[in-house]
Amino acid sequence: MRTVKTALIGAGFVGPHHIEAARRLGFVDVVAVASSSQASAEAKAARLNIPKAYSSYEALLDDPEVEVIHNCTPNDLHLPVTMAAIERGKHVIADKPLALNSSDAQVMLDAAKKAGVVHAVTFNYRYNPLMQQARVMIARGDIGQVHFIHGHYLQDWLLYPNDYNWRLEKEGGASRAVADIGSHWCDLAGYLTGARLSEVLAEYTTVFPTRLKPAASREAFASASGEEKYDEYPVDTEDFASVLLRFDNGARGVFSVSQVSAGRKNGLEVGIDGRQAALAWKQERPNELWIGRRNEPNGAMLKDPSLLDPSIRHYAALPGGHGEAWADAFRNLLRNIYSFIAEGRSMDADAEKVDFPTFADGLESNRVVEAITASARAGGVWTRVTR
Ligand SMILES: NC(=O)c1ccc[n+]([C@@H]2O[C@H](COP(=O)([O-])OP(=O)(O)OC[C@H]3O[C@@H](n4cnc5c(N)ncnc54)[C@H](O)[C@@H]3O)[C@@H](O)[C@H]2O)c1
Repeated sequence: MRTVKTALIGAGFVGPHHIEAARRLGFVDVVAVASSSQASAEAKAARLNIPKAYSSYEALLDDPEVEVIHNCTPNDLHLPVTMAAIERGKHVIADKPLALNSSDAQVMLDAAKKAGVVHAVTFNYRYNPLMQQARVMIARGDIGQVHFIHGHYLQDWLLYPNDYNWRLEKEGGASRAVADIGSHWCDLAGYLTGARLSEVLAEYTTVFPTRLKPAASREAFASASGEEKYDEYPVDTEDFASVLLRFDNGARGVFSVSQVSAGRKNGLEVGIDGRQAALAWKQERPNELWIGRRNEPNGAMLKDPSLLDPSIRHYAALPGGHGEAWADAFRNLLRNIYSFIAEGRSMDADAEKVDFPTFADGLESNRVVEAITASARAGGVWTRVTR
């Protein structure tokens, strides 16, 4: 495999995890990082052992050595950074949500297609070995026709009124909890079952209409130091949400998301109920896939490559009993993207080889979030996902 030269834009919470996952592939060279100032770019370059530091993403994008960029900036920068990268012919690995709204996502998809660059969105939970296994089991009919898809994605890092992050501001977009983490849940539900969401009904709740904004900015998941100065900041996005779902294959569903549920750290859980059996998976216990049955004892499949379907066995890198989790799923996703790039493939000509979420999946996610938000704003009415 030839070496691919990549760069990071936005080295906050998730950016360094992108870089670590890319480096684990062994054929990706991280050559540059950009931040919003030279001093912070240099500090991040030193911390992450990246040779070149740029004071702006535009300067980084002018570097001809850079072939691929990871866009890990706050949501409102996803559009300008990605468009500037596409204009310079760079491949783009964008974090979710792809855009602040579906029209921006459409612009990004159209531009990436026109430029012929590789475009990907990091819906990383798909690439847990047992999510791959669940998808195979559902597709081959092991659980029968799917009729109910349920679950939640709960966190607690915004539980206190002085918890603060750009996601509470306009940079986050019109939806917060649903766009930030509900987007992962909806993507996973669709990926596992092959069903598309057709209609949604939602209620949004803002527990803290006023937050205490610290004078200095804080990265995601960072707690208050206790010694900060605060300003009152009005917030109108949802701290938690409850959503009913109708899928295009007739299945029904329900999920809730929250950033204010004490003790729930990264509590993504998904359950798929079929006519013969059911499956359930918890992100925080990623090496176990629960199998529910009516007339026999329930089961639990432990992650073990020898038990996985041969078609997806390669997603488990370690033998049974050796846990694999979030960072490994991220590595699996990046392996699919970077192999495609290293092999010089085209998104059009090699469409059947695309085994990663694309900007089309990012656009779909933006449309779903928009429909959910519109339903909540209308007071909880069934709302079609418009495409
Ligand atoms: N896939 C996942 O599971 C996952 C997890 C966390 C975050 N995310 C997504 O990743 C993105 C970043 O989230 P985060 O939690 O890492 O946020 P963060 O605030 O921790 O990091 C964002 C970084 O971008 C930098 N930045 C801001 N303006 C910039 C500019 N003009 N040029 C270069 N850098 C700039 C900030 O200094 C900061 O370091 C968001 O879109 C978020 O939704 C995805």
